Amino acid sequence: MLGLFKVLGWLRVHFVSPARLRELGVLGLNERNVACISAHNPRRSFPSVDDKLQTKLLAQDYGIATPALLGVIRHQAEIVRFERHLPAGGGFVIKPAEGSGGKGILVIQGVFDGCYLKSSGELISRQAVQHHLSNLISGLYSLGGQPDAAIIERLIQSSSDFTDFSFEGVPDIRVIVYHGYPVMAMMRLSTRASDGKANLHQGAIGVGIDLTLGTAIQAVQHDRPILLHPDTGSDLHKLRIENWQHLLELSARCYDMTGLGYLGADLVVDAELGPLLLELNARPGLAIQMANGLGLKSRLKLIDQHRAKLKGPAEPYKERVSLAQGLFTMQVCSAPPANVE
Ligand SMILES: Nc1ncnc2c1ncn2[C@@H]1O[C@H](COP(=O)(O)OP(=O)(O)O)[C@@H](O)[C@H]1O
Ligand SMILES: [Mg+2]
Repeated sequence: MLGLFKVLGWLRVHFVSPARLRELGVLGLNERNVACISAHNPRRSFPSVDDKLQTKLLAQDYGIATPALLGVIRHQAEIVRFERHLPAGGGFVIKPAEGSGGKGILVIQGVFDGCYLKSSGELISRQAVQHHLSNLISGLYSLGGQPDAAIIERLIQSSSDFTDFSFEGVPDIRVIVYHGYPVMAMMRLSTRASDGKANLHQGAIGVGIDLTLGTAIQAVQHDRPILLHPDTGSDLHKLRIENWQHLLELSARCYDMTGLGYLGADLVVDAELGPLLLELNARPGLAIQMANGLGLKSRLKLIDQHRAKLKGPAEPYKERVSLAQGLFTMQVCSAPPANVE
């Protein structure tokens, strides 16, 4: 019976008026661009996050672990020999250095009889992989359509904690970090539709995560509330992230590493290596608000008020995390705002 009330509560939200969005403190696209990105992200810091290779190098300098780099292909002539970068066994991922939103990412689980097994179960030929690399290097998936580099990375083996929650793909954890304080988090879970990638625009599920506990608040797919994973059938409310403190601290350190006042850190938990930084975003999307059923504005304001009171420099990262957790203990509402980018 309680379950039914929950469903009814969520389903009543097919339309949210502008007034309700304001009430929820939802940050819109223009406001994000002007008040967050332009105001708090210095231009000189963009290249270090817009290019995933540069992010990896920077992270290395800071002692932050990232998935192992197997090789880089920059020129069309190198494509015929792409196999020399592949691991002897196991899977790999090809991704555009300057891509975003999961576009152009090819997740390969293994090689069988010269064919490549995608997360969806589809086998593709060597020629198809070469064709993908050729498109990628030409700039088909890069931010400004500029020629790009193909990164070949080792396939992350997702922690067994998430086996029932993600379908054939590694879930990632997105944390929005404002001046070094984590302000909102969600876990993104792959589905059959998202083809091994945990990007919402590819059909992944977004689960809002309580900053203090590392537990699920609510979940959305394609902007709609959802209770069960469509492919594994697991109850999304039961999602709980181990190592939560460590993950939040990792996200907070990304501010010290880049100097970006408003960033989105994408983290993953590898079964053997533990928490890793996957990539950073200087223009993180706003759908995290839907996954949490809460707007970002009030949280950014609370951090601004705290920063205004600071006499000296900001606290070290561990203290920033604790402070944010204290400020944002479970501010949940039952209705996620609809139709936010
Ligand atoms: N090395 C990897 N192993 C397994 N899955 C990966 C790997 N790299 C990326 N992915 C999958 O692809 C998604 C998007 O990767 P990411 O590096 O964040 O690129 P984008 O900028 O396109 O979001 C991740 O959330 C994850 O699900
Ligand atoms: Mg990403």
